[in-house]
Amino acid sequence: MNEITKQVGNLDLIENWQSVANGVWKSEIGDMNSEKRYISLAAEAPRLDRINGLSPTSFPLENCMPSFQDKDGKITVRIPTEKDEHIYGFGLQFDGLKKNKTVLTLNTDHWGKGNGRTHAPVPFYISSRGYGVFFNTARFMKVYCQIGNRKDSQNNPLPVDRNPVSGSEPINPWQAVPQGDAVEAHIIGKGMELVIFGGTSMLDVIQRYNLYCGGGTLPPLWGLGFWHRVHATFDADQTEAELSEFNKKQFPLDVIGLEPGWMSSSYPCTFEWQTARFSDPFSFVERLRKQGVRLNLWINPYISPESGIYEKIYPYSGSHLVWLGLVPDYYMSQARQLLVQQHTKEHLKIGISGYKVDEVDGYDFWLWPDHATFPSGTSGETMRQTYGLLMQELLYKDLFKQNNQRTYGNVRSSNGAASGYPFVIYSDSYNHKEYITGISSASLCGILWTPEIRNASSAREWLNRMQTVCFSSMAKLNAWATGLQPWSFSEVEDAVRQVIQLRMRLLPYIYSSFANYYFNGVPPIRAMILEDDGNTEIETRIDSQLDSEANPYAMDKIIEKTDQFMFGPSIMVAPFYENQATERYVYLPPGKWYDFYSGQYAGSDTTILVKSELLNDKIPLFVKDGALIPMLKQDVMNTEEVIGHDLEVRHYGVDDGTFQLYEDDGKSFDYQKGVYRIRTLSFTNQRLTETISKDDADSMFGSVSLKRMI
Ligand code: GAL
Repeated sequence: MNEITKQVGNLDLIENWQSVANGVWKSEIGDMNSEKRYISLAAEAPRLDRINGLSPTSFPLENCMPSFQDKDGKITVRIPTEKDEHIYGFGLQFDGLKKNKTVLTLNTDHWGKGNGRTHAPVPFYISSRGYGVFFNTARFMKVYCQIGNRKDSQNNPLPVDRNPVSGSEPINPWQAVPQGDAVEAHIIGKGMELVIFGGTSMLDVIQRYNLYCGGGTLPPLWGLGFWHRVHATFDADQTEAELSEFNKKQFPLDVIGLEPGWMSSSYPCTFEWQTARFSDPFSFVERLRKQGVRLNLWINPYISPESGIYEKIYPYSGSHLVWLGLVPDYYMSQARQLLVQQHTKEHLKIGISGYKVDEVDGYDFWLWPDHATFPSGTSGETMRQTYGLLMQELLYKDLFKQNNQRTYGNVRSSNGAASGYPFVIYSDSYNHKEYITGISSASLCGILWTPEIRNASSAREWLNRMQTVCFSSMAKLNAWATGLQPWSFSEVEDAVRQVIQLRMRLLPYIYSSFANYYFNGVPPIRAMILEDDGNTEIETRIDSQLDSEANPYAMDKIIEKTDQFMFGPSIMVAPFYENQATERYVYLPPGKWYDFYSGQYAGSDTTILVKSELLNDKIPLFVKDGALIPMLKQDVMNTEEVIGHDLEVRHYGVDDGTFQLYEDDGKSFDYQKGVYRIRTLSFTNQRLTETISKDDADSMFGSVSLKRMI
């Protein structure tokens, strides 16, 4: 290892590390004065107090010090890696978590797959050696992850003769891509800030990253209920008729989302009501609220010439149009004020609960070009990398937080330092396996992702997708194009209702898991590699055979198992999907696991086959030994009915266990001032006990009673 601490070639060691908190160091390279840091767009200030409460840890890169080069307008950073070190992350990537031996272009993009371009190209990775690296500069970034071999490196593999004479075949095969010994990344810009996180485990590293970015978000309780986005052309009557159907069919519903047709004109947008469809928005919203349902509005940021704010916002917008609408520069307070005034009057004041911010990721062909200019001086490139974040910041801080009202909504792009934002990413892509992978990859970079359901080619697919989405950050049916309802496939209507009801009954457990995200940075839904530091990750290596004609640059392929994930502290979810629609293998890591529904022992460090038939068409769920799971005693139709509801606390397995049940008002920001309550539930000596560990708010749930799952 010692060799790689040495200065490599003409690169300079990065030495000016500043310790910011326990296990967090940062350093600036070049000139950051004209560069934007993602962290400056975070929802909340760094939670240094919480970081300092984590286990002490020393600088993790002492033996493999990063180096840099500032040349030709490019800042390049090199972080040495060991041969068997695993690198995970780089944002919401749908093709897997592990990023060894790959080249990534981290560029905000709607359609990219497998090359780094994605809805949230977060320049943050974690290593199996227990550290994380955050490139905190809002630029396009190109990353060579163990790809490329410097001539002055001591760690290159030996060259292999690709055409050996017979009898002299080399021991190792010739490799099209020889193993590299570093993560090398560059941006085109004047400066770069690097933040390094240490930790006792990969989860500890992620916690530090999330806390450094202000902590995880705590959504309002209603945000965690069921969401339904109606068809884009629906009017008020059709929307209300849909709501009546939910009631009639006994399907829970918390939020209705209106799609573009609510607006007088969209793509570009006016943000004003389409009165032919919604003649009296105020009364409409009020009628929904009386039934316990909130309204969320679709928007994209591009402003139509028909909008009342077009003229005023014109000087504060970029050089180029998107869909012939203005692109406001929300780095300028004048632009922010204009939008906030309009949204307050037309939406917030009449009771709108939040937004779905579409099209902030774009695509080269319809977004502004990289050379577009903006009046604040922000480059087109930086604007693209941060536009989703900027919209979240504007709506969260200037509209909702300002009014002490929590929100929960959607956004189609995000980036670094986003963990504090109550916005969930979604996509127009629709591959079920990739959607499940997204759940895990989101947990590695401080964002939330919903594998929303829109359509299906069979009742089975409908059920499987519904089950997946009910175990995600946002349980949402997006029927904007299909007009489908949860009961549209009658063969599975009961099973669909059951899984939505199960989500509702799990709300006390889910809400507390989000509180743990807020307080401790622990992602509420997590990749399995965070459970045991990747020790039991399962992957299949597909060897690729060199063939001069058909496969002249043969590269082995690693297929990771990303179709299982953790939901809250103790439930592991293994959805059915695609060709594993009714049967699939589930890996149970070391530690005893129990079937969620029956409480029966399922196994430890083993792979089992599960069949939907034997589960009565339920989603496979496994629970850790000793887990306590607080659930509502009965089904509810929305989160208004949750308040004061008695809880059944399930105990699984044989071990003792505890659970911190979190309570607050579920809707305001008062919890940030300490107005909350913690009920510590413990199972010891075969009994359930409850202690109130903090008592600074009214209780949210009723009394608890134990249910032993044996
Ligand atoms: C898409 C978005 C969809 C839907 C649609 C409405 O771009 O991803 O979810 O909102 O716009 O036009």
